Amino acid sequence: MRNLFPVSGLVLSVALIGAGFVSTFAADETLRSYAEKNGIYIGAILNSQWFGGGLPSQYEQVHKTQFNIVVAENEMKFDATEPSENRFNYNNGDKMVRYAKQNGMRVRGHALAWHSQVPNWVNNYKNDKKKLLSVLKNHIDNVVGHWKGQVDEWDVVNEAISNNEPQWRTYSVWYQGIGPEFIDSAFVWAHAADPNAELCYNDYNLEQGVNPKAKAGFLLEQVKRWVANGIPIHCVGSQTHVEDTTTDKHFIGSPDSLRSLARELAKLNIKLKITELDIGFKSGINVSKSDLERQGQTFRQYLDIILEEPNADTYLIWGVSDKWSWLGGLNRQKGLIYDDNLKPKPAFDSILVRLQNFEPPQDTVAADTTANDTTVTDSTGLDSTIVIRQTAGPGSVTMHVAGRTLFIAGAKSAKVDVFNMQGRPVFSTKCEKGSIELNGISDGLYMVRVRSGSASLVQKISIK
Ligand code: XIL
Repeated sequence: MRNLFPVSGLVLSVALIGAGFVSTFAADETLRSYAEKNGIYIGAILNSQWFGGGLPSQYEQVHKTQFNIVVAENEMKFDATEPSENRFNYNNGDKMVRYAKQNGMRVRGHALAWHSQVPNWVNNYKNDKKKLLSVLKNHIDNVVGHWKGQVDEWDVVNEAISNNEPQWRTYSVWYQGIGPEFIDSAFVWAHAADPNAELCYNDYNLEQGVNPKAKAGFLLEQVKRWVANGIPIHCVGSQTHVEDTTTDKHFIGSPDSLRSLARELAKLNIKLKITELDIGFKSGINVSKSDLERQGQTFRQYLDIILEEPNADTYLIWGVSDKWSWLGGLNRQKGLIYDDNLKPKPAFDSILVRLQNFEPPQDTVAADTTANDTTVTDSTGLDSTIVIRQTAGPGSVTMHVAGRTLFIAGAKSAKVDVFNMQGRPVFSTKCEKGSIELNGISDGLYMVRVRSGSASLVQKISIK
């Protein structure tokens, strides 16, 4: 079992009191509490507006309640931390590190060597290899050194591979001025500055197949070389900025492809992290309820990689609410798990339920790997009534199902909510007489939550 968390029980039980939104789940049923149960990190960026104090308090409340890893949208990039030569600005980064400490969160640093968001003064040295090497080294020494022991992991190199043919990205001041060995050097310097930090190579379009023609295939060859040469690299970050499958005809990425990359990396003892997930729709189109449900399934399929692959531990979303998202600039919309009003979307529920009911692979219940099912059939024939979660109250509530009758014992009166395995509510009622009939629901697996006073029981049931 992965044991990753410096987080206290107190922090975990922070409730959504005052958050002002209504979810189908109780306040203590947070993404982070279930992520921690499964030994993984779940997170979202702190948007740039947060640093300036420009976001409603509800934003921060949601962020710290639901997530246990954080990264700054822009505030640790080169132009933010070294706006003029050898003059460093750590104010915003320090603010985030303090916030992370207060809320028991892991910190990602993003990003040290990248072609974008590089301040203009660096370009003055574009024809001077020796100087550029010392500029990059000085930056890494200072920035990583400043947050030594406080930033747990770094994107040391970001987006160094070209989109089209698999080769290095040539329009980068680092590549042009130094050559591809800037990458090797950056890792060595970052490791020297903080030997305990986890160091990642981070890029996008890595979910498009692991073959020599795809970006991930090219990257894999480089990772093999870095590992063989003793370059201190520990992880690959897959940004995973993807578009909803049905609105993008050219979409060729898939969770399965990313899973293949994770497995290849496992052979090299390198981790895979999902670092910047969003699943947007094309701008301008009407996004229906069922589109949002499908989006939730895709979020869940990417989560499955992190839950199921032993060398995958992090699921980070590039934003909290659709209201504050960089996706508009990509001609995409609605790619996150909270809507404009900070209300959880179906994707939130899909993720939460998956975290709640995930059982390690040796378990007997067949995993749901289909994208569009609304219910999951228990193909094993084994008893699938598994208690997911129980909060004790006075007396103990139990439930069992026989045919289509759900029997509830231990509570005179209880509120019953039935969810499909993607977390969408399908049926709610009050039980006053010890049993209810589950008519009008198709056969399959469901999650049932029974609440009575302070007691609550969540259980998986099978209706046949
Ligand atoms: C984006 C930010 O979200 C924007 O605010 C900024 O204007 C541009 O950068 N890949 C990365 C991130 O590694 O740093 C990018 O963040 C999104 C794509």
